[in-house]
Amino acid sequence: MRLHVADHPLVTHKLTVLRDQRTPSPIFRQLTSELVTLLAYEATRNVRVKDIEISTPVTTTTGVAISDPRPLVVPILRAGLGMLEGMVTLLPTAEVGFLGMVRNEETLEPSTYAERLPDDLSDRQCFVLDPMLATGGSLGAAIEFLFTRGAQDVTAICLLGAPEGVAAIEKQVAGRDVTLVLGALDERLNEHGYIVPGLGDAGDRLYGTV
Ligand code: PRP
Ligand code: URA
Repeated sequence: MRLHVADHPLVTHKLTVLRDQRTPSPIFRQLTSELVTLLAYEATRNVRVKDIEISTPVTTTTGVAISDPRPLVVPILRAGLGMLEGMVTLLPTAEVGFLGMVRNEETLEPSTYAERLPDDLSDRQCFVLDPMLATGGSLGAAIEFLFTRGAQDVTAICLLGAPEGVAAIEKQVAGRDVTLVLGALDERLNEHGYIVPGLGDAGDRLYGTV
């Protein structure tokens, strides 16, 4: 597994505002979008492209275009939906599939309640969006789902990760082609499975009462 933790003052600045409990939902949503676009730049570094010939007003030249099959972007509902706009801003031709997952807050076990993905993901590059990598249960289940359908490689973008979650994903994916792109690697999980210092419940902060 490849791990990339952002190291850019703009990312850290935007994350600081996101973490602040006084930040209201509309600003939280806007910052989430902006952060994902910044992280997507790194996450798409290995997106597959093919050579194409084009004519400029001056001459002909060789450029590149995103290869077929198109990349698949998979936001994990609910909170991952807040990351979709920022991702497709950078990758507008991607196909979008959906996975709905919720963590049981007592057992911390994830369950899947919705799925709308192509049946056959053979040879597809997949980009999973989930703001919080806490225990790793939700992201781990999503990654398994995509590989079971034939995905070639999976890149996950998370705003925040806990060391416990990163270790769990690393152990689970073993030698498979998985990349994790984080806005920040936080200190730890607390006794309720929340990331510390974290930002609280991402879904509530995105979609909660203003
Ligand atoms: C949150 C978050 C992740 C998950 C992370 O979702 O968006 O999907 O928890 O926790 P884990 O790494 O321990 O699995 P939640 O289950 O609260 O659902 P929501 O997106 O509907 O708020
Ligand atoms: N889910 C969240 O939304 N926040 C956390 O800190 C952990 C799981």
